[in-house]
Amino acid sequence: SYLPIVVASDGVRAMMESALTARDRVGVQDFVLLENFTSEAAFIENLRKRFKENLIYTYIGSVLVSVNPYKDLEIYTKNHMERYRGVNFYEVSPHIYAVADNSYRSMRTERKDQCILISGESGAGKTEASKKILQYYAFTCPASEQVQTIKDRLLQSNPVLEAFGNAKTLRNDNSSRFGKYMDIQFDFKGAPVGGHIINYLLEKSRVVHQNHGERNFHIFYQLIEGGEEDLLRALGLERNPQQYQYLVKGNCPKVSSINDRSDWKMVRKALTVIGFNEDEVEELLNIIASVLHLGNVQYGGEEGNVCITSDTQIKYLARLLGVNGAVLTEALTHKKIIAKGEELMSPLNLEQASSARDALSKAVYGRTFTWLVNKINASLTYTDDSHKNYSVIGLLDIYGFEVFQHNSFEQFCINYCNEKLQQLFIELTLKSEQEEYEAEGITWEPEKFKGIISILDEECLRPGDASDLTFLEKLEDTVGGHAHFVTHKLADAKTRKVMGRDEFRLLHYAGEVNYNVNGFLDKNNDLLFRNLKEVMCMSENKILNQCFDREELSDKKRPETAATQFKASLAKLMEILMSKEPSYIRCIKPNDSKQAGRFDEVLIRHQVKYLGLMENLRVRRAGFAYRRRYEVFLQRYKSLCPDTWPNWQGKLADGVATLVKHLGYKPEEYKLGRSKIFIRFPKTLFATEEALETRKHSLATKLQAGWRGYSQKSKYQKLRTSAIAIQAWWRGILARRRAQRRRQAADTIRRFIKGFIYRHRERCPENEYFLDYVRYSFLMKLHRNLPKNVLDKSWPTPPAALAEASEHLRKLCMQNMVWSYCKKISPEWKHQMEQKMIASELFKDKKDNYPQSVPKLFVSTRLNGEDINPKVVQALGSEKMKYAVPVTKYDRKGYKARPRQLLLTANSAVIIEETKLKQRIDYGALKGISVSSLSDGLFVLHVSSDDNKQKGDVVLQSDHVIETLTKIAICSDKINSININQGSITFTVGQGKEGIIDFTPGSELLVAKAKNGHLSVVSLLNLPHSQSDGFSKLKAEM
Ligand SMILES: Nc1ncnc2c1ncn2[C@@H]1O[C@H](COP(=O)(O)OP(=O)(O)O)[C@@H](O)[C@H]1O
Ligand SMILES: [Mg+2]
Repeated sequence: SYLPIVVASDGVRAMMESALTARDRVGVQDFVLLENFTSEAAFIENLRKRFKENLIYTYIGSVLVSVNPYKDLEIYTKNHMERYRGVNFYEVSPHIYAVADNSYRSMRTERKDQCILISGESGAGKTEASKKILQYYAFTCPASEQVQTIKDRLLQSNPVLEAFGNAKTLRNDNSSRFGKYMDIQFDFKGAPVGGHIINYLLEKSRVVHQNHGERNFHIFYQLIEGGEEDLLRALGLERNPQQYQYLVKGNCPKVSSINDRSDWKMVRKALTVIGFNEDEVEELLNIIASVLHLGNVQYGGEEGNVCITSDTQIKYLARLLGVNGAVLTEALTHKKIIAKGEELMSPLNLEQASSARDALSKAVYGRTFTWLVNKINASLTYTDDSHKNYSVIGLLDIYGFEVFQHNSFEQFCINYCNEKLQQLFIELTLKSEQEEYEAEGITWEPEKFKGIISILDEECLRPGDASDLTFLEKLEDTVGGHAHFVTHKLADAKTRKVMGRDEFRLLHYAGEVNYNVNGFLDKNNDLLFRNLKEVMCMSENKILNQCFDREELSDKKRPETAATQFKASLAKLMEILMSKEPSYIRCIKPNDSKQAGRFDEVLIRHQVKYLGLMENLRVRRAGFAYRRRYEVFLQRYKSLCPDTWPNWQGKLADGVATLVKHLGYKPEEYKLGRSKIFIRFPKTLFATEEALETRKHSLATKLQAGWRGYSQKSKYQKLRTSAIAIQAWWRGILARRRAQRRRQAADTIRRFIKGFIYRHRERCPENEYFLDYVRYSFLMKLHRNLPKNVLDKSWPTPPAALAEASEHLRKLCMQNMVWSYCKKISPEWKHQMEQKMIASELFKDKKDNYPQSVPKLFVSTRLNGEDINPKVVQALGSEKMKYAVPVTKYDRKGYKARPRQLLLTANSAVIIEETKLKQRIDYGALKGISVSSLSDGLFVLHVSSDDNKQKGDVVLQSDHVIETLTKIAICSDKINSININQGSITFTVGQGKEGIIDFTPGSELLVAKAKNGHLSVVSLLNLPHSQSDGFSKLKAEM
């Protein structure tokens, strides 16, 4: 399918390319590298070797020498264009693309307009070269959509101009018969955005006459061969060039290398691309056809009464040219003369009539050609003139040096032009070595042409019967002495043989040329009879209307002669070229027969000679291959030396000197001029270029790094400022909050102060907050500080407003605590408390040692089973013992102290001595119990005297007197029978006798019988305060 074919053809191409690179090494690519650079033979041998290998391009330094291969080489593909794009001159094999690319890059980097001068004789390949360059730019330059149209138009202008301006000559089947300088305009991005063409002197005589073996301009044949039937019919044309007088002179209607029919199609398409509409194409073709019809206008009749024999031509002409047939007929046969202010129509003779007709044909065709160029220019105009800032590459493809059997005015002009260009080449390339150039024997004599042209003009303007021959005589008279000028008359015998009497010979830089003076004056005058002009001015054809301006008719001044006009336009061209940086392509024609592979050494040696290629080479080798203005050189290479990078501050010359020193240039390799540096060897420059290439990469890396650093830094700065902004903002918020809090605090304080001041008033806005707060805080404080137990009497001071509520709360709280205390209380503890309550009722504030008893818990008994003798227990029998305590008994008489045990049962209190129940006191018999108010432990059990068994009251002493008495009171249910006595107790001893116990406070406990027979008890004052576990436990629990 499709793909493999592509791959295959790519593979083939790749193979061919590698083969090509191998063959590139044939000979030397640059003549500068020739071993024997002064030898012409070596030069030509190198050309030949390369030509045989189809290597048609070779450099002399930066000048490209191109040999026409006369066959299609596979070296103009898109791949090739790509390969040369942006690559240095010397890195790839020589190619026209390298020149094109080099100019393009110079234009872009140095911002200087460029021009590429293509020279060489007719058929050497100039036009092809210019087309290749154009194609290269069209392909490689950046393009937008708009630019694409311009590119297309630039490319398509070629076939159109070639159709109208090229013809087959003996030298070239597609010879340019006009000069062309084309500006390609590039915008700042390097895209082609416009163009402008200047055309030079079209060889108009070809319209009416061609030498044998040559043709008229291509367009005529293209129209007749390719034009559609309808079109030809409308134009009144037949598909046969032999029918037209203007096409038969050279007797060469068909050329094998030209396909008129396909060219026609191309031209028609190109016209559309350039922007011709159908009407314009029609009018253009009407003009072309009318030229053919004009050629067929035949004159007859007698001398002095010339008439046109065929009406058909006139009919067609009238229609095609848009003029009145009768008026045209008259203009073609008469001449208008103004004599004494009167217009007269004077009839023409046959010769005059046909030359008037031919003059009209030439004028119509020539002016139409100029119109065509203008039209193309309009379509190439750079429309975006907002910034008229564009750079230009100019392409000069002008007719090459020409020598025919018969050379006329046209050849004279063409060769004059070539001489001028050669002069320019010398001036621009070899000027600084002018002396050396002269030493080579090449001399330049620009004066000779000027002389000839001015004499020609003189003869044209001179009144009287000036003719071509009088012109020749004048030449002999004036420039006859010049070494490069010869006529038949002036020549030696040998030369005379090859010269006609109507010829003059010029020795051009490219060789000798004999010019035949016939027609010089007419062609120089280039006159068109006034009445023919008038007819054309009336034409309805819009193109002709623009070509023939009525103002021309009223202009009395003589128009400038053709040669002078040409000279002036060339002078302008030289100015244009001088203002630009030139590149050169020197085209060489390998043979005269347009054959591929034929290397005609004689012909080539001749061209090498007259093109000055050997001198060119010698100058390159001897002198300095490369020169550049200091600023340009420094600007380009300054990055290669640290002292000049990035900018050199001092004088330019010093900067360059520093730079080349750093680069290691040897003294013989370069010279510093007044404003330029001269470098002798290409290799020196190449090495520098290479260094620059490498440096560019590292610079790019550095720049990137720098940029990255910069962007990181700015990123960081941005972050930093953002952070600061946020911080400031946040601090602001905090400060505002703080301020607000202070304000609130101040407000609160103020409100408090006010509230405090108004605290005793009725509730009002000034104090309500304060009051509420005080209440609230009191309640909160209370909440936190509620009393822990019933003994804790602390209570926060309430505000006045809450005094009542506080009291309620306090009571509630106490009740609650009491209630919960009671709920928690155990039966034993309850019992204990009941006893303590009774003790409190009995003794509180009544007996001195009561307080000491409070913390001491009452126990159920002070004596356990082991402490009481079993006999006693036995004696008690079923009687249950409730409490037992050791006591001291004082005898009723003598008050002797005896240790006893006191046992309480349900019915009685029993006093025990060891094993004996000494005394049983039934509770019924217990009348009362007495005790002192002091701190002693003595007490008296009053026993009823009715009981015989009773021996009287019992005086006892207990260490736990409060407990013991409380127990007795409870057991005997005699709570109300306890007497607390001050001072003394009286008791019964038995049989009605009484004893008395006296109590006195003292420093020492003492119980003894006093002298008065009373029992004296001294009780301790200020009993030491003792705390027991029981007391603290009690406290903790309450
Ligand atoms: N580079 C080339 N490759 C192939 N053929 C070429 C090349 N240059 C020129 N020719 C052939 O030579 C002919 C004449 O070239 P042209 O450029 O018209 O010459 P000039 O403009 O110098 O008179 C072309 O028509 C073409 O056939
Ligand atoms: Mg040409």
